[in-house]
Amino acid sequence: MERNDLLKIANEFGTPVYVYDAEKIQEKYQELEDIFSGLDFELHYAMKANENPAILKEILNLGGGVDAVSPNEIKRALKVGFRPSDIVFTPSFPDETEIDFAIKKGVQVHIGDTYLLKYILERHPDYSIGLRLNPETEIDGNQKIATAHSGSKFGIPLTELNYIRSLIKKGLKIDTLHIHTGSDVKKWEDLARSAEVLFSLLPDFPQVKKLDLGSGFKVKYNELSPQINMKAYASFLKKKIKETHRKLTLIFEPGKYLLSEAGYFLMKVNGVKQGYQKCFAGVNSGFHHFIRPMYYDALHEIINLSNPEGKIKIYDIVGQLCEEDTFAYGREMPEIRKGDILAIKNAGAYAFSMASLYNLRDKPGELLWKNGKISVITI
Ligand SMILES: Cc1ncc(COP(=O)(O)O)c(C=O)c1O
Repeated sequence: MERNDLLKIANEFGTPVYVYDAEKIQEKYQELEDIFSGLDFELHYAMKANENPAILKEILNLGGGVDAVSPNEIKRALKVGFRPSDIVFTPSFPDETEIDFAIKKGVQVHIGDTYLLKYILERHPDYSIGLRLNPETEIDGNQKIATAHSGSKFGIPLTELNYIRSLIKKGLKIDTLHIHTGSDVKKWEDLARSAEVLFSLLPDFPQVKKLDLGSGFKVKYNELSPQINMKAYASFLKKKIKETHRKLTLIFEPGKYLLSEAGYFLMKVNGVKQGYQKCFAGVNSGFHHFIRPMYYDALHEIINLSNPEGKIKIYDIVGQLCEEDTFAYGREMPEIRKGDILAIKNAGAYAFSMASLYNLRDKPGELLWKNGKISVITI
């Protein structure tokens, strides 16, 4: 989308507001189709990244499935039109009622918590499940988004394999092995190390037909962003599949890769204030709308849509909550004036879906830009 499109939208619909570019979602989806072509694979969009029904419909129309993490996500996916077989349920520490619900709906259930295995064997002995394992893959970077290291709460540790074997002997049915290394993983080799663990376990699981390799595909935050070599990862997977001599379907669960770059978050500058040490640009938002910089230390590009040619100055861009809610520290920007409209880039994933009503402030609206037209998709 062009700067002028965004500015026009902000003027017409007001701020704060999220805008999603449907064509970007299609482009990213096609990119993954191309990267993994030659493999037998399914794309299950991690709907926690952005669960707006209009976005889910885009994924459905592209032929994708979803990865859901709660009963309400399953309900929404079914309502939008996904079939139960299009849905992978990968909850973390669910209780038994959530598992019963997912099984009743007939979706694929992946279990990453040991305490549930015996329950499934006893209550649902005929239901084949997936097993989410913890491959002990350490990765660099923000540990808040690393999900497969030995200190992580996610996945069943490999030390439980004997226990799992004993349950299989008693009748537990497992058709899928699953790992998810983390989010925004920079090196394909880290993803490959996790996948390698699953490949090495295959002889123990002759009934397994699918490997769910999660996601973690890094996205581009700016021109200097390091890029993950997805082609090298795909080549590695092709080689491994060839070596196994088994017919295997791969599942990928991209969230950020499909949505991040498609989204913009538009905010208005309520005022600019020179402090003792810093100049603050205060916007009509905060971490209740966009929590990524505060929670993940995520560095998002911010554009001054209404004064792009202004003299470069340095700002802390802050929200209006009574906590520290800084979107950017010491950011060099074209001069920011009261009333200017700022756009945060890469705001399509883990952005609106993490918004809250904190301070009883309304959530932002949501808009979809498609074929040059804008529609309101706020729910
Ligand atoms: C099990 C699982 N799959 C997929 C994803 C999506 O990851 P990403 O948004 O990095 O693609 C997540 C995100 O945390 C996840 O927990």
